[in-house]
Amino acid sequence: MDKKKLPRFLYGGDYNPEQWPAETWTKDIQIFKQADINSATINVFSWALLEPREGEYDFTKLDQIVDELSAAGFDIVMATSTAAMPAWMFKKYPDVARVDYQGRRHVFGQRHNFCPTSSNYQRLASDLVTQLAKRYGNNSHIVAWHVNNEYGGNCYCDHCAAAFRQWLKDRYQTLDNLNQAWNMNVWSHTINDWDEIVVPNELGDAWGPEGTETIVAGLSIDYLRFQSTAMLDLFRMEKRIIEKYAPMIPVTTNFHSLPNKLVDYQEWAHEQDIISYDSYPAYDMPVYQPAFLYDLMRTLKHQPFMLMESTPAQVNWQPYSPLKRPGQMRATELQAVAHGADTVQFFQLKQALGGSEKFHSAVIAHSGRTDTRAFKEVAQLGHDLKHVGPVIKGSDVHAKVGIVFDWSNFWSFEYVDGITKELQYVPIILDYYRQFYDRNIPTDVISVDDDFSQYDLIVAPVLYMVKLGLGKKIEQYVAAGGHFLTSFMSGMVGPSDNIYPGGYPGPLKDVTGIWVEESDAVVPGHQTKISLDGQEYPGHLICDLIHLEGAQPLAEYANEFYAGTPAVTENKYGRGLAWYVGSRLDHDGLWPVIDRAVAASKIKPLTSQPTKLEITKRVTPGGQELYFVLNMSNDQRELPLKFRGYRDMLTDRVAQPTLEGWDVEILTR
Ligand code: GLA
Ligand code: ZN
Repeated sequence: MDKKKLPRFLYGGDYNPEQWPAETWTKDIQIFKQADINSATINVFSWALLEPREGEYDFTKLDQIVDELSAAGFDIVMATSTAAMPAWMFKKYPDVARVDYQGRRHVFGQRHNFCPTSSNYQRLASDLVTQLAKRYGNNSHIVAWHVNNEYGGNCYCDHCAAAFRQWLKDRYQTLDNLNQAWNMNVWSHTINDWDEIVVPNELGDAWGPEGTETIVAGLSIDYLRFQSTAMLDLFRMEKRIIEKYAPMIPVTTNFHSLPNKLVDYQEWAHEQDIISYDSYPAYDMPVYQPAFLYDLMRTLKHQPFMLMESTPAQVNWQPYSPLKRPGQMRATELQAVAHGADTVQFFQLKQALGGSEKFHSAVIAHSGRTDTRAFKEVAQLGHDLKHVGPVIKGSDVHAKVGIVFDWSNFWSFEYVDGITKELQYVPIILDYYRQFYDRNIPTDVISVDDDFSQYDLIVAPVLYMVKLGLGKKIEQYVAAGGHFLTSFMSGMVGPSDNIYPGGYPGPLKDVTGIWVEESDAVVPGHQTKISLDGQEYPGHLICDLIHLEGAQPLAEYANEFYAGTPAVTENKYGRGLAWYVGSRLDHDGLWPVIDRAVAASKIKPLTSQPTKLEITKRVTPGGQELYFVLNMSNDQRELPLKFRGYRDMLTDRVAQPTLEGWDVEILTR
C-alpha cells in the first residue's frame, strides 16, 4: 500500500521549544498562526533530554510539546534526535564517536559525529527510535518522520576498517579481483591478505585534504561508496523501526549542501518516501545554483520535494551572512517551490538564546516582536502560500533536457591527480546548467540510471567515469534518435577508476565519432583561443587534441601548436546526434554550441523572448499549467509579452507587466 502524502502545503520549520520554559509555548504558537504557519519540525536534537542515562527515558517534555502543537492544529514533522549524541554515550562507549581523516578519535561535543558502524551507536539509536515510534507512531498529527539530521561525515576507525574489508569481500570476492580493480602493482601496493587493507586517510594513502588527492583513487572511491552505504544502513535501520509503528507515514532525512559530496543521494533516494532538502544559498552565489540544486532534488524521485530548512533572514555561519534584502526571502523560498518544493520550512521558528546559532535568524527573533520587517515578510509569504499552496501541491515539472550528475563520477573526477589542479565537478556541471537556466528551458538533473528515452537532449559534461554498460546505453539512446552532449575528460575510466585503453573517450568514441590523442592543461596567464562561427572565445582548463573519425568540426583552436584542429565536434550516429566539447568554454563561448543542440533537439524554452526573469512551469495533476515568474534580482524587469493577460494567482489579478526587484508572479491562464 502506498504511504500517505503530506496532507497540505506545509509552512513551518524547526522548532526547539525545549530551549524555553513551557509557559512561553502558547504565545509562540499564537505568533506562528499570525504568519499562517501550519507545521513544526520537532525533536531534532533532544537525545540527552529524552534519555539522560542509558535506558532511562523521559518523554514528559516531548509529550507536552506534541500535545500543545496538536491542540493548535499543527502538522508535526517528528525527528528522531539521533544526530547529536548525549555526553554519557561518549563517556561509556567511546567507539560511538567518529575517527576523523587525521586519525583522531572524537570526544563529546558538536553533532553529526557518530561512527556509522559502531554497534553501540546502532543499538542505542535503535532503542531510542523504538521508544519514539511506539509512543508517537499512531499520533495523527505527525505527517512525516525526519530521521537523524544532515547525514555526512566519514569515519576512519577500526570498526569501519573491518566493515570495509567485509564490504570489499562481497564486492570483489578475491584479492586478485581487488588488486586488479585498484591496479595495485603500482608502488608495490599489492595486497596479499584482506587484513592488510587499511582505510584511505591522511595516515595512509591520502595526501591532501579529505576528498582531494589520494594515491589509489579506486580505494578511496570504494571507501566513499562504503561509507555512504554504511550511513544509509543507519537510515534504513531507523526507517524500519518507524514503519513498524507508523506504516503509512512518509519517512525522510534532510539532504543538504551544494550538493553533499559524501552521500550518494541517488542511491539514498530509493529509500526516501519523499526527498527533503536544506537550502542555504550564500549571498554571492549565482541564482542558477540553488535552481540547479532544486532540480536535482526533484529529479531524485521525479516528484515534488520538501524544502525542509532555509533561513528567514540570515544565517550566522557563512563567512559573511548578510540579511536577505526586502522581498528576497519570499523570492528565494518561492524559487524552491517553482522548481518542485511542496513545503516551505525554515530553520528555525524561534531564535536560540545561546549556543553557536544564536545569531541565526528565525521567525520569532530575540525581540519577540511581530512588527518587524522580517516577521512581516514571513507572514506575507504565509498568507500567499495559504492561498496558492493547495493548487501548487502535487504539481510536476516536465523537462525534456536531462543533465547528468553522478556521485561516483564526482568522486573519481575530483581524485584525479593532474593535469590541472583545478578539476572541480560541480562548477563544470553548472556551466551547462546555466545555459538552460538562462534560456528558461526546464531541466532535470538525472542519474546515469534514469530512463534516457524520456529526454530529447542529454547533457553529460566531464563524464569521466563511465560505468559498465553506460557506453552502450548512450549509444542506443542516440542511435534511436536521441541527442547527447559531452565534453573533455569524459569516457576515461571504468567503475574502479582504471583507464579504458584504446584512446579517449573510451566507450564514447563511437558515438562521438572522435578520438582524443592528448590533452593540454591551460596554465595561468595563457589563453587558448577557440574560433566558432567566426568569433573567438577563450578555452579554459583543458584543451583536447581531437581527431575526427566521422564527426564534423564545429569549432577549431585558433592558436597554439594545435591551431586549426577541432575543438568542438558534432557526430551523426544512427538517427541522433552527439556533440563533444573539447575545452572549458565560458558562458558566451558555450552559448552557440548549446543553441545548436537545443535547435537540433527541437526543445522549446518557456518563452522565446529573451528575459532575465527566471521562469519555470509546474503542471497540476489536472493539467493546469502554473508559470512561476521570478525576479531574482533587485532590478525592475519586464514580463515577457506571452504572459500578458495571464492571471497572477498570488494577487488574483491580471499579471503586472513590470516586476519590481524580487517580485514573483505565479501565472495561469
Ligand atoms: C543545518 C542544520 C540545522 C541548523 C542549520 C543552520 O541545516 O540541519 O540544524 O544548524 O543548518 O543553518
Ligand atoms: Zn567508524
